[in-house]
Amino acid sequence: MVADDPKNSHLRELEGAKERLTLCRADLLDFESLREAINGCDGVFHTACPVTDNPEEMVEPAVNGTKNVIIAAAEAKVRRVVFTSSIGAVTMDPKRGPDTIVDESCWSDLEFCKNTKNWYCYGKAVGEQAATDVAKEKGVDLVVVNPVLVLGPLLQSTVNASIIHILKYLNGSTKTYANLVQAYVHVRDVALAHILVYETPSASGRYLCAESVLHRGDVVEILAKFFPEYPIPLKCKDETKPRVKRYKISNQKLKDLGLEFTPVKQSLYETVKNLQEKGHLPVALQHDESVIRIQS
Ligand SMILES: NC(=O)c1ccc[n+]([C@@H]2O[C@H](COP(=O)([O-])OP(=O)(O)OC[C@H]3O[C@@H](n4cnc5c(N)ncnc54)[C@H](OP(=O)(O)O)[C@@H]3O)[C@@H](O)[C@H]2O)c1
Repeated sequence: MVADDPKNSHLRELEGAKERLTLCRADLLDFESLREAINGCDGVFHTACPVTDNPEEMVEPAVNGTKNVIIAAAEAKVRRVVFTSSIGAVTMDPKRGPDTIVDESCWSDLEFCKNTKNWYCYGKAVGEQAATDVAKEKGVDLVVVNPVLVLGPLLQSTVNASIIHILKYLNGSTKTYANLVQAYVHVRDVALAHILVYETPSASGRYLCAESVLHRGDVVEILAKFFPEYPIPLKCKDETKPRVKRYKISNQKLKDLGLEFTPVKQSLYETVKNLQEKGHLPVALQHDESVIRIQS
């Protein structure tokens, strides 16, 4: 992150930022920059990571960058490090049975990730393992949050990968939806999960951060009900095959810390409203706001 880059202006606009926010330049592969940023901190939230399936861009920052953060945190003797891992480190396992409830004990199969060229999931899984190992070795108190696909309003003006996942169904760039399933969560719940695991002394290990699992067919149906004015694809790409079943996922660990998850319909609604407000989607003239009350 470059501190004075205009793309960070949304951070400077946060309430209290003038008095309480300091931005530092930090590169995951530049240990000195991390040391300077982390020195004097009580805690570290390590969220930075490339989001790409290009192995050359993904693996080194995800693994060595994460190790650097933990080592710098150990030197600074911080109270706790919260690491943002991913569902990508959890579910990529072809041996998992259809009735298995995905929980914090599940790990992605590294060979499967490599063979399917899923380098993002590979990087997140190896990065999380590296974080756990280095934290143990250096005596760092590490807690991990594994969010699923994050929805909801963007603070920044640019669109990130998880929001493109929704935008493509609204802007006419795709004519069909895939026969796939995906778990979703609201960005505010992800932020709250990070705060909860940081502030709860007894928090430990991994925390799956998920509200529900939907088939892409469910997603487009919800979007089409809320926003019929957009060219939302209602045809599956491979209609000849049976519809992929939704897997079950446990969010009990975070619920036990008091987190009440936002329903996915509301997350989808807020995502689209925010894309309109930020100018990424044209706003319809006669959109019926009452639909949100009927649907949620
Ligand atoms: N969005 C999701 O659905 C989702 C789901 C599960 C987990 N996550 C995790 O959540 C975190 C944030 O993801 P996001 O969706 O917000 O992605 P994003 O918008 O692409 O943000 C990634 C951030 O990482 C920073 N970064 C990348 N490489 C870096 C490096 N070498 N040194 C320093 N900073 C670096 C980027 O900074 P620059 O822009 O300055 O390069 C950017 O601020 C990631 O760890 C991701 O794996 C996201």
